[in-house]
Amino acid sequence: MERIKTGIVELDEIISGGYPKGKTVLVTGGPGAGKTIFGLHFLHKGCTDGKKSMLIATEETPEDILMEAEIIGLDLQQYVDSKQLVIGRVLESRTGSIEQVAKFGAGFEMSELDIIERVKSVPADTEIVVIDNIGVFALDMKIKEFRNKIDTINHLLTSIGCTTLIIMDETAYELTHKLAEYSVYGSIKLMVMENPYTGLRERYLDIPKMRGTNISLERSLFEITQKGIKLNNSKTKRENKTKNEVTIMGLD
Ligand SMILES: Nc1ncnc2c1ncn2[C@@H]1O[C@H](COP(=O)(O)OP(=O)(O)O)[C@@H](O)[C@H]1O
Ligand SMILES: [Mg+2]
Repeated sequence: MERIKTGIVELDEIISGGYPKGKTVLVTGGPGAGKTIFGLHFLHKGCTDGKKSMLIATEETPEDILMEAEIIGLDLQQYVDSKQLVIGRVLESRTGSIEQVAKFGAGFEMSELDIIERVKSVPADTEIVVIDNIGVFALDMKIKEFRNKIDTINHLLTSIGCTTLIIMDETAYELTHKLAEYSVYGSIKLMVMENPYTGLRERYLDIPKMRGTNISLERSLFEITQKGIKLNNSKTKRENKTKNEVTIMGLD
């Protein structure tokens, strides 16, 4: 299976070289877990490798996103300027549609149409798509409708060969009974957890599912630095060892 680099070297190493080409991967996590940065790495790497890319943003403005990227040393502006990267805003349409709904007094949610319409308008030569964050569409919607929406987005993008990251906040993910995970090819969770041995809060990346890929069930420790996400595969192994040693000592 062909792979598309994630933009995080150590992640490529643990998923056989990158995301499965032409497939959709779900990224979930709480606020501040690093989801947006995770998506930015993918877009930047794709652009650097000459791939046509698209970000569909539902929460942040393109200006904020570009600034966030710049802070971690990822220059996306140049690719926006050269039109290699397109940032589609569903936020504006959503705001507009609320006005429209109010004006016409119609009982339908235009934002539902907007995300699908936006995805339908993704040019066929686009190779990489990141949707950040699909969770806003899960509110005020029946779970089945939401599942259908994810399936439709997945179908539309895989049919033109896009490798896609769908980012979804933890709250919406839980509210929809984690159904999104069934529709996609792979799933990655970003989390912040307290280390019971040190009392310090640490960032972890978990890969519960990646079809066609030999994955470890162990979580990877990561940091967000001024150069973005840095996975520490070896540290995870070392910590596990320490943990085992502690357990054995405890038994003694
Ligand atoms: N330069 C940096 N150095 C260290 N941590 C950073 C830096 N930039 C961002 N962060 C961390 O990343 C978090 C935001 O990541 P983000 O991808 O926006 O989260 P999410 O999209 O999951 O809400 C911030 O809360 C901050 O802790
Ligand atoms: Mg975000």
